Amino acid sequence: MNFNFTEDQLDLKRMVQEVVAKEIIPYALEMDHNDGMREGLLEKLDEAGLLNLTVPEEYGGPGLDALSIALIYEQLGYGCAGVATSVAANALASYPVVLAGTDEQKKKFFDVINRGKLAAFALTEPGAGSDAGAVATSAVKDGDDYILNGTKCFITNGGSAEIYVIFANARKSAGIRGLTAFIVERNTPGFSVGKKEEKMGIRASNTCELILDNVRVPAANRLGREGEGFKIAMKTLDAARPFVGAVSVGLAQAAFDLAVKYAKEREQFGKPIASFQLVQAMIADMAMQIEAARLLCYKACWMKDQNVEYSKESAIAKCFAADTAMKVTTDAVQILGGYGYSKEYPAEKYMRDAKIMQIYEGTNQIQRLVIANNILY
Ligand code: CAA
Repeated sequence: MNFNFTEDQLDLKRMVQEVVAKEIIPYALEMDHNDGMREGLLEKLDEAGLLNLTVPEEYGGPGLDALSIALIYEQLGYGCAGVATSVAANALASYPVVLAGTDEQKKKFFDVINRGKLAAFALTEPGAGSDAGAVATSAVKDGDDYILNGTKCFITNGGSAEIYVIFANARKSAGIRGLTAFIVERNTPGFSVGKKEEKMGIRASNTCELILDNVRVPAANRLGREGEGFKIAMKTLDAARPFVGAVSVGLAQAAFDLAVKYAKEREQFGKPIASFQLVQAMIADMAMQIEAARLLCYKACWMKDQNVEYSKESAIAKCFAADTAMKVTTDAVQILGGYGYSKEYPAEKYMRDAKIMQIYEGTNQIQRLVIANNILY
């Protein structure tokens, strides 16, 4: 086994750390309070080459391996999980195109992302969350086009994206086997952005409802064959879940560093609270959980890069890292006490941000189901 990173990976990590320290950390609380990314940040992230991480080299992207991408998301998660979520949603939306796009579709989709724009992956609906196969948005063939009708909800980058991958059912009677993926451009007539979600955390990212009212999409925008959508969605989520894990690890690390610093500075009963063994036990547990989560995420990405089956490891990484982020950020609030509960410090933001990691891209209950199914069947 080799636990060393390549020089390129270390350079990349250092570069992202610098961007995060300069452009994200000083503004993270402000973005949280203002409920959106600060002006100009997207351009800075684009300049640093962080928006098109999953675009293959032949289509103008960096063609990075999954492990390098995870290193980047971990650093972004350290700075602000909301910003990291928005950036990672570009990867989530790109992956169906990487998997099933034609040369023409790849050129069209990746060109938008290479220009520093955001993309969105639209699967979830009011009646299709964990039960992704229950998508009710319809796609009815009409000559060389499809007519899409329906509503999507909780879509990351929903209001800020230029291009979308939208899942609709082209054969209702076939259920899951009717699910089909389409590329939809924002300016398509009938397509509109609905309600913006007021979220508990990751407030720098934009989460919206999407409304499709007789949206005419050329069949040339269909990804893969009719009915291939469910498998495309599942494979995409396999690829993206370790990245949610990586963001969770970065977030947990940030909360941990804050808690350790505070524990060394804060004095009670005449000494730093870090000298009390009950606090030390919390710090040790936090460190163990973060280390384990990090290794699980790196391993899932490494397996993907080796082209071996990694669906189970992907779910394990996401589930463990998200639970770790929730536990570690909660403990960080506890160590900071009243200051942890106050908006003066970022601890409470970390805790609010962590909760979504256990919910999106498949709840942790669904991850456990995927893990068990992989073991049992
Ligand atoms: N790779 C390839 N194929 C897969 C697969 C995978 N990982 N998982 C399932 N399939 C295939 C199965 O082999 C099966 O194929 P056949 O019919 O040919 O046998 C088919 O898909 C159906 O599989 P299941 O019977 O297992 O499907 P299911 O209906 O029981 O659902 C599930 C499985 C795991 C619960 C799935 O619905 C799921 O992952 N749900 C969670 C959805 C989710 O993660 N949503 C997140 C939305 S994105 C988001 O949150 C983004 C954001 O904004 C940040």
